[in-house]
Amino acid sequence: MKQVWIVGSGGPENLQLREAPDSQPQAGELRVRVRASGVNFADILARKGLYPDAPKLPAVVGYEVSGFVDAVGPQVNTAWIGKEVLCLTRFRGYADTVVVSQNQAFEKPPALSFEQAAAIPVNYLTAWQLLVVMGALEPSETVLIHNAGSGVGLAAIDIARHIGATIYGTASAGKHAFLQQRGLHEAIDYTRLDWTREVARLTQGRGVELITDPLGGSEWKKSYRALRHTGRLGMFGASTATESKLPGPLKLLKVGLGMPWFNPVALMNQNRSVFGVNLGHLWHEAAKIDAWMKAVLDGVSAGWVRPHVDRTFPLAKAGEAHAYIEARKNTGKVVLVV
Ligand SMILES: NC(=O)c1ccc[n+]([C@@H]2O[C@H](COP(=O)([O-])OP(=O)(O)OC[C@H]3O[C@@H](n4cnc5c(N)ncnc54)[C@H](OP(=O)(O)O)[C@@H]3O)[C@@H](O)[C@H]2O)c1
Repeated sequence: MKQVWIVGSGGPENLQLREAPDSQPQAGELRVRVRASGVNFADILARKGLYPDAPKLPAVVGYEVSGFVDAVGPQVNTAWIGKEVLCLTRFRGYADTVVVSQNQAFEKPPALSFEQAAAIPVNYLTAWQLLVVMGALEPSETVLIHNAGSGVGLAAIDIARHIGATIYGTASAGKHAFLQQRGLHEAIDYTRLDWTREVARLTQGRGVELITDPLGGSEWKKSYRALRHTGRLGMFGASTATESKLPGPLKLLKVGLGMPWFNPVALMNQNRSVFGVNLGHLWHEAAKIDAWMKAVLDGVSAGWVRPHVDRTFPLAKAGEAHAYIEARKNTGKVVLVV
């Protein structure tokens, strides 16, 4: 089989294609011949040595794939063989073959291409947890989606639109027209404007009920202040870490030092709440993930889940895929194809 390895921390040139013997499924596992692998911002952080959850380098990263099952391990129903699936992978998704636990695999809806299916697991499950499970977004409320043009951002727009909420989003200006077509009501260029002022202007100073924030560090302080009373802040990433000019792990230190400390009395008196989301720490909650995935795949059938693949790259060109995202060129998902 072919795998793309991160051979050391640094630039995209550290992604290298290598051959390895085919993995064999053990008890409870399926082997998937991969057709498409989702690229996530976390993979870029891992390559830069800025992702605490990443496997020790050298390693094969990749959190999600689509493809078909060609072998199963002991205690697995052989009816899986030949089925088209989309899967969460606890790494090793940057490959043409991967072995996964059967509870991380879901049947691919026939209406989706393999590329679209690979754009579903991480983005839609994260957005579902943020907006529905923990954010409890209501139709009468307003949500601010930071990085609205990212994979998670577009998934969040689909879900907020389905709920019927008012949707604001921050993104680079070149993405605004497309995001508005997708359902964003107000697009804010956070690279040029103070987005907090824009939110205050749009809400007559009241703030919004829900903010999904993957920026991290001191941005979380700003997001907290932009909440309306009864507002919720969902924190789920630290993309601003890559912007610091400091070397290696010092980048994370800067983000850490900028973080807010939340005071329970202030939370009570301001009627606000804060929560964190890390899908990569939910492997032990398979029943929850299964239920959320069912809701998302029902959304595919109903037509409101619309995975958007911005661009595909051949597996061997994974470095180019990373560079494309780091240049902020993507609107929605970037996928590696075999
Ligand atoms: N906790 C979790 O479970 C979880 C799960 C998935 C993703 N995440 C987090 O959610 C965020 C989005 O992830 P994703 O995979 O959906 O992103 P993605 O599709 O790879 O898109 C990244 C986009 O984020 C924006 N961005 C913001 N800061 C950036 C920076 N410093 N460098 C490059 N681009 C930057 C850019 O768009 P604009 O410039 O237009 O904004 C870029 O196009 C990341 O922070 C990621 O770590 C967390």
